[in-house]
Amino acid sequence: MSGPPGASTAPFAPAARSVTARAPAKINLSLRVGALRPDGYHTLATVFHAVHLDDLVTATAVAGGEVTVEVADEHGVPVPGVPLDEANLAVRAALWLREASGVPERGVHLAVRKSIPVAGGMAGGSADAAAALVACAELWGTDLDPLARVAAMLGSDVPFALTGGCAIGTGRGEHLETLSAVPVPLHWVLALAGTGLSTPAVYAALDELRGADQGAEPRIDLRLVTALERSLVGALGMLLDNDLEAAVLGLRPALADTLAAGRQAGARAGLVSGSGPTLAFLVDAHRAATVARAVARQPGVADVRHVTGPAPGAALVG
Ligand code: C5P
Repeated sequence: MSGPPGASTAPFAPAARSVTARAPAKINLSLRVGALRPDGYHTLATVFHAVHLDDLVTATAVAGGEVTVEVADEHGVPVPGVPLDEANLAVRAALWLREASGVPERGVHLAVRKSIPVAGGMAGGSADAAAALVACAELWGTDLDPLARVAAMLGSDVPFALTGGCAIGTGRGEHLETLSAVPVPLHWVLALAGTGLSTPAVYAALDELRGADQGAEPRIDLRLVTALERSLVGALGMLLDNDLEAAVLGLRPALADTLAAGRQAGARAGLVSGSGPTLAFLVDAHRAATVARAVARQPGVADVRHVTGPAPGAALVG
């Protein structure tokens, strides 16, 4: 039976269904790095803290079984330097989830809207993977049980991007112990660099600095956990640390001046976020603008953000 002249050949085809999920950036309040393991990872003990700086991933069902991705910034401008093949963690998340869920024929297009700096030490790629997992599970109507297992396979920081909040991470970062809610939000000024740093290169630089001394079994200072859970911001500021900092400053010496500028402008503390080069300054809310202005003037600082934490983990939007 043919339709009236001018009618679409597929008048009842449903519109492509789309699902959007968000996932947060993280700061490591303490990052203690132990020995290099035979699998190429380092043993860690870390305190993760998710902040309100989200990437969004919109998953749209497509016919033909392909998994594709596009990556744009908050203004819709394509982001250079992000792979668009299986090296992209969001693509890998979709591919591995459909295998784990027994729906290997499903196709999806992922549109990533990035706010988290690329290669910035804030686990932006991991956030994209976590958001892709949540969006694809909803789009395909699959069980949520495989998500945690697939997340741990995808990368050391992906499980935390799923759970958010604050957590102690051990192993290579994927074993999480969630910490109780922080009663008062923490304020952070972030100094973003124009170009990122490779995480493996930073870990390799640390190994080189350490030489034969690979570091003891890493442990978190429990005073930091107490300070975090009780919102003792002064104590927290004195207890933040990052074993990767010396390696990052060796690769980007100018960051030392930016750290000093933020502290002088009234930040309670400043530290390298993860494997850098993003710097995170713990501030009292009323000092955020002053600290932001001071670090924005430093050479190499491309952008400055004021964010709060903790933030929830990956979730559907709308
Ligand atoms: O797990 P992910 O893919 O994010 O790790 C990226 C790289 O960072 C690893 O290949 C490794 O070089 C380094 N890394 C490490 N020890 C960790 C986590 C990451 O050496 N615990």
